[in-house]
Amino acid sequence: MGSVSVPESVQSVIQSGSLETKSAQEVVRWALETFGNKVALASSFSAEDVAIIHMMVQVNPKARVFTLDTGRLNQETYDVMDKIREKCQVSIEVMFPNTEAVERMVREKGLNLFYHAIENRKLCCGIRKVEPLNRALATVDAWMTGLRREQVVTRAAVKKVDLDADHGGIAKINPLADWTWTQTMEYVTKHGIPYNALHDQGYPSIGCAPCTRAIKPGEDFRAGRWWWERPEQKECGLHVSKHG
Ligand code: ADX
Ligand code: SF4
Repeated sequence: MGSVSVPESVQSVIQSGSLETKSAQEVVRWALETFGNKVALASSFSAEDVAIIHMMVQVNPKARVFTLDTGRLNQETYDVMDKIREKCQVSIEVMFPNTEAVERMVREKGLNLFYHAIENRKLCCGIRKVEPLNRALATVDAWMTGLRREQVVTRAAVKKVDLDADHGGIAKINPLADWTWTQTMEYVTKHGIPYNALHDQGYPSIGCAPCTRAIKPGEDFRAGRWWWERPEQKECGLHVSKHG
């Protein structure tokens, strides 16, 4: 993990909490002006992420965006990636998992290992998402995400800007922390931003194809993720805190 390179002056701005009352656009601008090419958006091309990309390129057309291509994404996700690439003229840094680690895993446990045991699912997320994330984060002093408090109780306390103890103390910026799903979709449609076609087919939250299903009316936002697991198990390690 990258060394802690958030200057003390920036750390005190973050710790003062003064950014928590700023709008999403103001937070995005602050992040890009403060960290330059040392901040990148982690994008799964969810509605949240495409809204943030739209805000970022207005401030800096060369703003950095990376994605973790697990190799198991839906075709609709690849489709929106290419559409955003064209519409927003962003260069997308695609991170792939370590080939040998994936080969070893599927040789030993099969292609659909995640359905058979929670350990297998965590192993797969570890190899296909977490390790590539760590490699991406080694290149930045701050990362941006589309996390929203409304998504799930474990995200209810997410701040707009925080220091990320799980990733070497870099800054973690969640510009849409206080947005609702409705607000997010309104922003996306108002600005004609391409979004994942699965959102219109009952998928508010989209991960890998074999591990995501549509939700039924009344179900939780993330009920379709790893649907066969108990709710408390449903994090893949990108955002779950080792520090409580
Ligand atoms: S996850 O931890 O359960 O997979 P979720 O799908 O809710 O996360 O997405 C929350 C945020 O995590 C996204 O807005 C994005 O910033 C980041 N993220 C999730 N999946 C990816 C991915 N495959 N590549 C890059 N960033 C991702
Ligand atoms: Fe593997 Fe499923 Fe995790 Fe994707 S979400 S990395 S396919 S276990």
